[in-house]
Amino acid sequence: MSSRKREMLSPSPRTEETPFEETLRPQRLDEYIGQERVKANLRILIEAARHRREPLDHILLYGPPGLGKTTLAHIIANEMGVNIKITAGPAVERQGDLAAILTNLRRGDILFVDEVHRLPRAVEEILYPAMEDFALDLIIGKGPAARNIRLDLPRFTVIGATTRPALLSSPLRDRFGAIFRLDFYELAAMTEIVKRAARILNVPVEEDGAREIARRARGTPRIANRLLRRVRDYAQVRADGTITREVARQALELLDIDELGLDEVDRRVLRTIIQKFGGGPVGLETIAAAISEEADTIMDVYEPYLLQLGFLERTPRGRVATPLAYEHLGLVPPAGGSHQPPLL
Ligand SMILES: Nc1ncnc2c1ncn2[C@@H]1O[C@H](COP(=O)(O)OP(=O)(O)OP(=O)(O)O)[C@@H](O)[C@H]1O
Ligand SMILES: [Mg+2]
Repeated sequence: MSSRKREMLSPSPRTEETPFEETLRPQRLDEYIGQERVKANLRILIEAARHRREPLDHILLYGPPGLGKTTLAHIIANEMGVNIKITAGPAVERQGDLAAILTNLRRGDILFVDEVHRLPRAVEEILYPAMEDFALDLIIGKGPAARNIRLDLPRFTVIGATTRPALLSSPLRDRFGAIFRLDFYELAAMTEIVKRAARILNVPVEEDGAREIARRARGTPRIANRLLRRVRDYAQVRADGTITREVARQALELLDIDELGLDEVDRRVLRTIIQKFGGGPVGLETIAAAISEEADTIMDVYEPYLLQLGFLERTPRGRVATPLAYEHLGLVPPAGGSHQPPLL
């Protein structure tokens, strides 16, 4: 198929990162570093579908932001040799929007739906039969003259991505034949990701320098790429351009990113729980109001890594800072521990 295309059905916001993300994005599974279990499963899925000359089953990718969901969707299209059309939950407002997208698909095409948990319910309802039976149920006309018609669709593949799988309705979730969770990357994979990005951007980096950036990038490739650009600037201005361990350390310290990769906001979340709310439990909304951040941002962007580090626990009565968090901030946990075991 030489006419393979990538088509944006809805504009996504362009940021400082956009051009970098595009050049740094791996194109094939072999270039995609880490996530070995997901890759192994995808290889089997792709191979089997190609062997049977069938379109892929629908795939749901979930996990915190910046771990490579969008990247994987493009890779899957490349590996299958099919077109990918890209949209996002909030962009598909009406049933008619989705109908227009679906009727333009060709057999085997991939429809990538980013933020799939934000599709309006009414739109989801026509997506179900489309995913399951490859049919589109439309109502033509109004009032007593209205008729139901059913249009056949070519067999296509939906790849959904979400940071919030829990918000997906269960009928939608059930229609994905393969569901993969992306986890924070291990240090070794992160180091390879930094080295690969440095190679592409032509930045000289020593092994130790790459590892120092990797260590502080919260297991997240997007953050690694961003830190690499900042450290590159520092290396050019304050050193001879090469990223050594010492250069990386100084640059990241100046950016207020600590040894574990926590930034000012992470520390503010923890300090607020500890100093204003006695270590918790305290509700997410209360924390958000106290530090003037969006609750959703805290939940999607900051919390997952703090949970992973074991600095935070989610309990039914709210968030609790653990003794590890006190220790990291150089604070003394109250005697006997204000820290309460999670209620289950
Ligand atoms: N496995 C990987 N190997 C190398 N680079 C990666 C990998 N995964 C992601 N990246 C890099 O990280 C950047 C962010 O990845 P991507 O945009 O796919 O994340 P995402 O999970 O879709 O995030 P969001 O939830 O915010 O949409 C990409 O531009 C890519 O350069
Ligand atoms: Mg994405």
